Amino acid sequence: MAMYSTLLTEIKNHICTITINRPDKLNALNKVVMEELSKVIDEVYTNEEIKSVIITGSGAKAFVAGADISEFLGLSKEEGMKMAKKGQDLFFKIENASKPIIAAVNGFALGGGCELALSCHFRIGSENAKFGQPEVNLGLVPGYGGTQRLTQLIGKGRALELLMSGNLIDSTTALRYGLINHITPHEELMNTAISILETIQTKAPLAVAKCIVAANAVFDNAVNGYEVEITAFGECFATEDMKEGATAFIEKRKPVFKGK
Ligand code: COA
Repeated sequence: MAMYSTLLTEIKNHICTITINRPDKLNALNKVVMEELSKVIDEVYTNEEIKSVIITGSGAKAFVAGADISEFLGLSKEEGMKMAKKGQDLFFKIENASKPIIAAVNGFALGGGCELALSCHFRIGSENAKFGQPEVNLGLVPGYGGTQRLTQLIGKGRALELLMSGNLIDSTTALRYGLINHITPHEELMNTAISILETIQTKAPLAVAKCIVAANAVFDNAVNGYEVEITAFGECFATEDMKEGATAFIEKRKPVFKGK
């Protein structure tokens, strides 16, 4: 993989771990981080060795404490809109990846950090994880899709309370809201993420990719999700892996999927 100045990357067992690495600034998303994240997600799309991805933050304190506030002052309305559009495009690229991308939230996931986690396919959190959209404290609203994805995920009432109050929630509340799927002790966070992805990696990759497309279609007004599902279901019958999966079941053995 390419070298990055603000990200650490590692591929092990086909799982790519991307660690946002500005711990002295609580891994805040400045321009360089956003550009590097975009490049590394391009690598995820094209590198065949990578079958799934974990995004996490460096250190024990923060996943990502938001967009870098030091870059905000002096921006015009147009520049603000450009910044939001760029961020949204990046987070759509994460959301629409054909390989599972999960967030391992190891501390503060605030503002753009919460939005980054929301753009992942699902999230797990450590006991010390904290979530929030505190943009109103800065006279701002989320710009990287937070108003949309938070509302989709936890419902309008809970989302608007978080968005309008700027309050943070802990991992227990995040679990109750469905913002994260699991809570783990801090030291077990990465192993839990790896173990979930190892399970997913034993499944048929094309079918896994179609699950993502179909689930994303729920939130896309331009398509009918049920029709997307019909097409996905039909297309699976044209894959070698579907034949292998059904044959293996009948022969009472484990399937060996090739992603074809
Ligand atoms: N942008 C830029 N720098 C940030 C940042 C952000 N979003 N979040 C934290 N930092 C920096 C701090 O400025 C500080 O840098 P310094 O040591 O050079 O002064 C460093 O990270 C450590 O943060 P600090 O605030 O000292 O830690 P804390 O434990 O007292 O507080 C938080 C932790 C997360 C509560 C606090 O950092 C915070 O509120 N951050 C901003 C969260 C936010 O509003 N995010 C949304 C942005 S849209």
